[in-house]
Amino acid sequence: MSTSSALSTTQVVAVIGTGAMGAGIAQIAAAAGHPVKLLDARPDAAARAVAGIRAQFVKMAEKGKLTAEAATAAGGRLIAVEHATDLADAALVVEAIVENLEAKQKLYADLESIVAVDCIFGTNTSSISVTAIGAALKNPERLAGLHFFNPAPLMALVEIVSGLATDQAVADTLFATATAWGKTPVHAKSTPGFIVNRVARPYYAEALRLAQEGAADYATIDAVLREAGGFRMGPFELMDMIGHDVNFAVTNSVWRAFYNDQRFLPSLIQQELVDAGFYGKKTGRGFYDYREGAVKPLPASEARQKCSEKISLFGESTVTNALASRLQAAQAAFDRQPASDGRIASIGNAVLFITDGRSATQRAAESGIANTVLIDLALDYTRATRLAIATAEQCAPEARTAAIVLLQAAGFAVSHFADVPGLAVMRTVAMLANEAADAVNQGVCSVTAADSAMRLGVNYPQGPLAWADQVGVENICNVLANLGAGYGEDRYRISPLIQRAVFAARNIHD
Ligand code: NAI
Repeated sequence: MSTSSALSTTQVVAVIGTGAMGAGIAQIAAAAGHPVKLLDARPDAAARAVAGIRAQFVKMAEKGKLTAEAATAAGGRLIAVEHATDLADAALVVEAIVENLEAKQKLYADLESIVAVDCIFGTNTSSISVTAIGAALKNPERLAGLHFFNPAPLMALVEIVSGLATDQAVADTLFATATAWGKTPVHAKSTPGFIVNRVARPYYAEALRLAQEGAADYATIDAVLREAGGFRMGPFELMDMIGHDVNFAVTNSVWRAFYNDQRFLPSLIQQELVDAGFYGKKTGRGFYDYREGAVKPLPASEARQKCSEKISLFGESTVTNALASRLQAAQAAFDRQPASDGRIASIGNAVLFITDGRSATQRAAESGIANTVLIDLALDYTRATRLAIATAEQCAPEARTAAIVLLQAAGFAVSHFADVPGLAVMRTVAMLANEAADAVNQGVCSVTAADSAMRLGVNYPQGPLAWADQVGVENICNVLANLGAGYGEDRYRISPLIQRAVFAARNIHD
C-alpha cells in the first residue's frame, strides 16, 4: 500500500491538451481544490475549455451536486494560459495531447527546463509506452502514466502506469492524489494496453470469432452477453459505439506490441468494416445500421413449444438450485436426482450440461449421450433472462425441443446457437480471466487491480478473476484446455497463474 501523500490542494496542476480528456481532467483537479492551468496548441482552445468546464460546474450546482459557492470557487481555480513558460510553478503536469510518441516526448523534454525538478509528469496516453516517453527526459523517474477513462469526470478508474525508470514514490504520489480526487486508482506496469485495454481484448475478439463461425447473428450474441453475461452492452453494439477505427487500431497496436501473439489477433470482419468506412454509430453504419429509418434487429429467440415430458434436476449446484427455484416459481413440475456425470437436468431423452469448451457434438460422441444439449454460462442463473444453448448433431429434434421447453418453463428466452465450442458467455469469461491472469502473472498488476480495473474502467459486472473463482478455476481451465485442443491454436493457451491455482486446488484470489 502506498505511504506517499497526495499533492496538496494549494499545489498547481497543469493540463496540456484541453480536448475531451484534458478538459475532463482539469475539471476533476479544480473540483478537488487545485489551481489548474490549462494550455493547448490551438489558439483559444484552453479558454474555451475553461468556459466549458465552468458551465459544467454551474450545471452540477443546478442539479444539487455542488453548492453554488463551490461551483463558483472551482470555476475560479481554472486559468487558461498561452505559453509553456506560464507553467513554471506546476507541481504536476498532465498531458492529454495527440496520441503520438514524438509529440509527447518533445512536450515533456521542453518542460523540463521550465518546471521545478520535483514537478511530476503524468501522461494520459492510452497506448504509448511510458518507458519510451520517459526515454527523452533528463529525469525520467518523474514521469508516470496517469490514465483516465472517458468521460474522465464520471469514470472512477485511473491506471497509474510505471515505466522502467519511474520512481515508485512518484507513482505512489499519483495514486494518493487520484484517490484524493475521488478516483479509484490501480498500479500497472507499462506494458502494451496497460490493464484495461489489454484484458478487454477478448470481449471483442471472442464475439468476432463467434460471428465469423456463424454461431448466431450480432443482435443475438449481444443479447446473450447482456442478458446472461450481465454486461452493460453487447460486444457488437459496444464496438459500434467506440468506433471501429479506434477499436481496430487499439487491437492492432496491442497485437503488434506483443509480437503478433495469436491471443490478440485482429479480426477480418472488423477489418472489412474499417475498409468500408463503416465505423459504427458515428458514420451511420457498423455491425448495425443507424441510418434514418433503420430498424434495430431483435435477437433470435426460440418460439414457445410444447412438451409434457418429466423434468429432473441433478445434484445441488448453483445452476440446478437456480433452475429449481425458477421452475417452482413457474409452478412447473420436476424431481431432483443425485449428481450424475455433471448433468444439470434432463427432460424426456434430452440431457443438459453446462458447456466445458467442447462442442455438443464432440461431447455427445465422447459421452455416448446422443441427445446432448449444452447451456451457456450466466453471471447469475437466478436472474438471467436469456440463455444460449447448442445441441449435438446427433441430438434428436424432439430432444432439442424438450430442452428448449424446460428452459422456457424456467423463464429463459432461449437462443439456439450453432454448435460452437464454449458458447458465448463461458468462452468470453474464460478468455477475459485468462488474459487478466496473464497480466498478473507477468507482474503488470495485482489480482485486485485487474478486477477493479475491469469493473471500473469498462463496467464489467464482475472482475474476471473473481468471476473465474465463482465459476471454479478448474472449470475455466478445462474450458480453455478444450478450446485449445478443439481449435489447435496457441490463442487458448492457459495462463500459468490459472494452472497453478488448479494444481493447488485454490481460488485465484486466495
Ligand atoms: P482530443 O483530440 O480531444 O484533444 C487533444 C487536444 O490536444 C486538442 O485540443 C489539441 O489541440 C491539443 N494538442 C495536440 N497537440 C498538442 C501539443 N503538442 N501541445 C498542446 N496541445 C496539443 O484528444 P483526447 O481524446 O482528449 O485524447 C488526448 C489523449 O488522451 C491522447 O493521448 C489519448 O490517447 C488519451 N486518451 C483518450 C481517451 C479517449 O477516450 N478519448 C481515453 C484515455 C486516454
